[in-house]
Amino acid sequence: MAQAGPEKPRILVTRKMMPDVERRIATLFQATLNPDDRPMPKDEILYKAAHHDGLLLTSFDKLGREFIPSLPPSIRMIATHSVGYDHLSIPQAEAKGIAVTNTPGVLTDATADIALLLMLGAARGASWGDRMVRENRWGETTLLTPLGHDMSGQRLGILGMGRIGQAVAKRARAFGMGIHYHSRSAVAAEDGLGATFHASFADMLPHCDFLSINCASTPDTRGMVNAPALALLPKGAIVINTARGDILDDEALIAALSSGHLAAAGLDVFKGEPNIDPRYRSLENVFLLPHIGSATPGTRSAMGHKCIDNLARFFAGERPTDLLTKG
Ligand code: 8YV
Repeated sequence: MAQAGPEKPRILVTRKMMPDVERRIATLFQATLNPDDRPMPKDEILYKAAHHDGLLLTSFDKLGREFIPSLPPSIRMIATHSVGYDHLSIPQAEAKGIAVTNTPGVLTDATADIALLLMLGAARGASWGDRMVRENRWGETTLLTPLGHDMSGQRLGILGMGRIGQAVAKRARAFGMGIHYHSRSAVAAEDGLGATFHASFADMLPHCDFLSINCASTPDTRGMVNAPALALLPKGAIVINTARGDILDDEALIAALSSGHLAAAGLDVFKGEPNIDPRYRSLENVFLLPHIGSATPGTRSAMGHKCIDNLARFFAGERPTDLLTKG
């Protein structure tokens, strides 16, 4: 008589994933998928979690500070489909004995590409140009309008020289930019980027024609790019954010963009997204994207498979590769 195999771990997946990722999840686990991709409110995730052993969630889920303490005891692991994990409290997870993993490495290039898109888009007025063509207003362009800003020969300051920061530096070098950076420590593997390390963020800012935010959102970095920091940038500088919205002070950025101290900004991430500060919608000198840093099929698929690898290892009693909690 055939013996029933061990029960597969029960995994709740909060958002619709790439088809190859969903197929593999459904093979390896008893998976509850979200075929309609309806964003699940926190209370629904908590309610459904009671019938699951693990969660595969995203940084787009609105979880709040009380999420992990409110999780039912059945949940033993959370795999977040993101490199950033500021939406989860690691100490709270450790206190509850819940393992947490993220997806570093696989979205580096896609996110760095978007940083360069934002730099070009902000510097050359891409939204304005796109509107001119769509609205049949080509005739308004002259030899003097529009005039954007060069990237070549300019200095780029990178806040946070991790994987993504280094990938941005590599691309910016190809554009003929000089690279400055501020990180917790100097990066050993600068790989010939010829980048100048600044131990102090404030000391770096006067050297930045462009500032690209590439650090994680932590208690130390939240609000770091504030009014005093922006005031230290040279007049006409351009600010780019592909990391997290709360590192940047919206009030200060909007004031600096409106006064003309800053020439432009390129933003893929926003505090409180998708409910962004409405003033961004009417500013002419911003280039805005809806948090698409990792949005390519290959990258989103690789992120999903990394989550699955981590879940599979954990539920097989092995150490997941991208473990954030002590374990
Ligand atoms: C994710 C991101 O796609 O990985 C991150 O930290 O910000 C994005 O690339 C998004 O957060 C979905 O989880």
